[in-house]
Amino acid sequence: MGDAHRVGVVGLGVISRAYLDTLAGRSAVRVTAVADLDASRSAAVAADLPGVRALTVEELLSSPDVDTVLNLTTPAAHAAIALGAIGHGKHVYGEKPLAATLADAHAVLDAAATADVGVGCAPDTVLGTGVQTARAAVASGSIGRPLFASAVMVTPGHERWHPHPDFYYTEGGGPLLDMGPYYLASLIHLLGPVRAVTGASSRLRAERVIGSGPRTGERIPVEVDSHVSGVLEHADGTLTTITTSFDGVATTAAPIEVHGERGTLALPDPNRFDGDVRLFELGGTQWRTLPPSAGYADGARGVGLLDFVAADDRRAPRANGELALHVLETMTALLRSSAEGRRIELTTSAQPPAPVPLTAAEEWGARTAPSPA
Ligand SMILES: NC(=O)c1ccc[n+]([C@@H]2O[C@H](COP(=O)([O-])OP(=O)(O)OC[C@H]3O[C@@H](n4cnc5c(N)ncnc54)[C@H](O)[C@@H]3O)[C@@H](O)[C@H]2O)c1
Repeated sequence: MGDAHRVGVVGLGVISRAYLDTLAGRSAVRVTAVADLDASRSAAVAADLPGVRALTVEELLSSPDVDTVLNLTTPAAHAAIALGAIGHGKHVYGEKPLAATLADAHAVLDAAATADVGVGCAPDTVLGTGVQTARAAVASGSIGRPLFASAVMVTPGHERWHPHPDFYYTEGGGPLLDMGPYYLASLIHLLGPVRAVTGASSRLRAERVIGSGPRTGERIPVEVDSHVSGVLEHADGTLTTITTSFDGVATTAAPIEVHGERGTLALPDPNRFDGDVRLFELGGTQWRTLPPSAGYADGARGVGLLDFVAADDRRAPRANGELALHVLETMTALLRSSAEGRRIELTTSAQPPAPVPLTAAEEWGARTAPSPA
């Protein structure tokens, strides 16, 4: 790789720190500018990072010092920021979901195709050793032919810990659009694309109470369903049942299980990069933990961007826009299925990206300086 790829970060909230830590000191990328609607946030971040400029959002989107815009805004702003970046000829890599609505997501990918720029999208946790080791196990035949899977995400709600959780309960939020991308991207890596869905959803409360930060105790409205169940029909006939809930208290269910004719795989939390993958073989007597055999071993938020920057004609970005679009259509179709009371066939598809070999971290450049504490 020649000169470092220049990254401008828009949106400097809770998750931005993890990205800035991952990107710090990498030879492959250099953060050149930051921006937020709240100028005090960009000023504070720039003050801590030598050589990084605090700009207005529009200045950053049009800056000649930025090759890729890293979009870490809240979901309702994802499409507008992405379209702004693309309009200035920039690549864009953003947090999930790709957009708050399917129409907006299509608009982003269409604009990117016209401008001939790339679109990448979280989650990148699925490129870690957890999901990738399980994917390698399925591919090597350790469970035989996959037949069905389950995905379960249960939490009483992010407002308990997030200081400004409003976006989790407005359009673009809810347990499926917020947490579903981790599970659906994993399932597509493991079992391939989805051809049709059936969904049902419900809502526990009309209001939530913020549990941390300066707004502790404030009530916020719930504008979306906070529990979503569904069935996914994968293109190869495999069936997945999925539950995502901000209404339940706890669960002992494995986050993802894949059942094949000769064995069952239990995956770790797909919102993490690592964790144990366990296998129970037909005729066996107990679960066996598989050693990590694939995936970015040192994964942290931002490796999807490093993978995106390192992609070339021989290897497409793994956390790519087409995959994110298919994930978003799967989620919005589940919600539409619930609202309309019918099975919905999907219009998009996405092939699983290239598997991640265990050593692939070297591909995007060692750190040239230590990461800040
Ligand atoms: N918080 C987490 O643990 C977490 C984890 C993984 C992914 N994410 C995803 O990251 C994204 C951001 O989440 P967060 O928790 O950091 O949110 P946050 O509310 O803490 O931060 C979002 C920031 O974006 C800024 N912003 C909003 N609209 C903007 C606009 N139009 N232009 C410029 N700046 C704008 C806000 O001022 C704020 O500083 C979301 O898509 C979320 O799903 C969050």
